[in-house]
Amino acid sequence: MKFLVLLALLGAAAAYTPLTAEEYAYVSGAWNKVKHSEVDILYAVFKAYPDIQAKFPKFAGKNLDEIKGTSDFALHATRIVTFISEVVTLSQNTANNDAIYNKLELFGTDHHNRGVTKDQLTEFRTALTTYLSKHAPWGDNVAAAWNKAFDNVFEVAFTKF
Ligand code: HEM
Repeated sequence: MKFLVLLALLGAAAAYTPLTAEEYAYVSGAWNKVKHSEVDILYAVFKAYPDIQAKFPKFAGKNLDEIKGTSDFALHATRIVTFISEVVTLSQNTANNDAIYNKLELFGTDHHNRGVTKDQLTEFRTALTTYLSKHAPWGDNVAAAWNKAFDNVFEVAFTKF
């Protein structure tokens, strides 16, 4: 039993690997270039993955180009971007690890309860990474840092799925 508890603790500790200062600089540098393009980002996500759009009661079945200019669309785009900005900012300091962990667990629980799937979160990851690679300074180092950041997010959020 003690062994199992130890194993679980080790597993939890290994789940989240804080970004190094250099990785943080790559992640935040790219994010700062796109974080004011909220609507554009959500549009790119829905365009690439209509199944994500279909999960939103307010947007399901509607023409993407028509909803793009609505306040509901801007509001949700801002929620998503603000969430990411908060996680990026917190990850600057390892003293915030518990706060990040709790935030990501809540995100996982919320979205699992809303019927969002792991596959859809992975689609979101692909869409956002593609968006960043087109609109922010990009290269192997930046891509690797974002990969690590997304791995961290999903390691925690997926525990709720
Ligand atoms: C990838 C598939 C996703 C789907 C299908 C999805 C779906 C939803 C839905 C249906 C809502 C409720 C909307 C409403 O009540 O108006 C919601 C809320 C929210 N989502 Fe997502 N979401 C996804 C990914 C994400 C991601 C990746 C983020 C953050 C980076 C995010 C951040 C949020 C936030 C902050 C809220 C508002 C939470 C609240 O205040 O209740 N979502 N999501």
